[in-house]
Amino acid sequence: MLKEKKIQAYKTDKSKKLWSERERLVPKAPYPYTHLFIESAKGATVRDVDGNSYIDFSGGIGVLNVGHNHPKVVAAIREQLEKLIHICFHVMPYESYLKVCERLIAVAPGRFPKKAILFNSGAEAVENAVKAAKAFTKRQGVVSFDLGFHGRTYMALTLTGKDNPYRAGFGPFVPEVYRAPYPYSYRPPEGVSPEEVNRYCVGALERVLTIQTSPHKVAAIIVEALQGEGGFVVPTPGFLPAVRKICDKYGIVLILDEIQSGFGRTGKMFAVEHFGVVPDLMTVAKSLAAGMPLSGVVGRTDILDSVDVGGMGGTYGGNPLSCAAALAVFEIFEKENLVSRAGEVGKIIEDRFKEFKKRFDFVGEERGLGAMRAIELVKNRDTKEPISEEDAKGLLAACAARGLILLKAGLHNNVLRTLVPLTVTDAELEKGLDIMESVLEEYKVGG
Ligand SMILES: Cc1ncc(COP(=O)(O)O)c(C=O)c1O
Repeated sequence: MLKEKKIQAYKTDKSKKLWSERERLVPKAPYPYTHLFIESAKGATVRDVDGNSYIDFSGGIGVLNVGHNHPKVVAAIREQLEKLIHICFHVMPYESYLKVCERLIAVAPGRFPKKAILFNSGAEAVENAVKAAKAFTKRQGVVSFDLGFHGRTYMALTLTGKDNPYRAGFGPFVPEVYRAPYPYSYRPPEGVSPEEVNRYCVGALERVLTIQTSPHKVAAIIVEALQGEGGFVVPTPGFLPAVRKICDKYGIVLILDEIQSGFGRTGKMFAVEHFGVVPDLMTVAKSLAAGMPLSGVVGRTDILDSVDVGGMGGTYGGNPLSCAAALAVFEIFEKENLVSRAGEVGKIIEDRFKEFKKRFDFVGEERGLGAMRAIELVKNRDTKEPISEEDAKGLLAACAARGLILLKAGLHNNVLRTLVPLTVTDAELEKGLDIMESVLEEYKVGG
């Protein structure tokens, strides 16, 4: 555990005062990564209410791939604000919604006829993708994976494969949802070698489909191409192609949840492209609209059109301000080559994380794709016993106290992950990584 006295303390008077107000006014449930109140942000740097600056490796939990307050996003929102804030797409449609759908259809994998529909949050997109799959197949079952995270509404929560803290105490959940293991090579099931993980997980999925239910009762399999909250777990290369094959064999809809891994984060527009797999439906949100609430489902026309009129939608889904922001995001991606920039950012992080692994024996594994990278921290490399959650929290607090906002993830909360804006400068990135290294160094010597 890092000792507080060694941490260079920033001035935090205003944040402390506001924190006690937060405790008075807001339930404790929203997870507190920091106790710092933010005032403003630009690019990959954020500023708190006490005037301290931080490099932001959180990107607002993967939302700011184009950076905070990108001038083009700000201008697009401002221009839209003057014209129209809300009418509801059901009442009178507007062109910007169509343009976002057109863009999503163009970037989503698959050469078949596609459509897209917009919502507010990631969870809402997940709910609707599942609804469309059920309407299309006229089946009720859904299969998801251990450690997958799909959101906090009831179907999304049911699909989420980690009980504590997301689901604990909230049951009963939605019926007809089944869960299979995800190929987490660093932590294979007891008695399974890392080399056997792929075969084991494909077999386990087949068993879930044939023993726990029947494949002909399953409407959809939903999976992340790279697990986000689960700890930046990259699946074995053969896993998603095998899942695709199983879906084809049984007429099951394959839903790829690209809510965290999408929009260039992994060095491809969508992480699934690394595996040569084409989903039937894809859920998107987070970095789609640079901080404005917007999500979507994009995919096969025949599946999405199987829902009757009135069966999907909502008051705010695809609101004009969010659509304006999303159109600016698409333009920024093209003009600033952010997909290839993710590769460069990822390489810088990967090289440093590899060094961390050499220097610090408590770094059990470094992993990721593109700029979606993480290190998993353990007490002992042989036993892989995770560091305690308290220690992980201490590391994040020490990073914050030195000017770096960093997040953790994973089953044991022992995975430090980077979701830095792809517009980060090399200097900011190195500075953030230097802070991480100094904190790990201190942890090594026992703080
Ligand atoms: C893969 C994935 N799916 C779904 C969600 C839920 O998104 P939201 O919080 O916008 O409902 C998240 C959020 O972290 C996510 O990472």
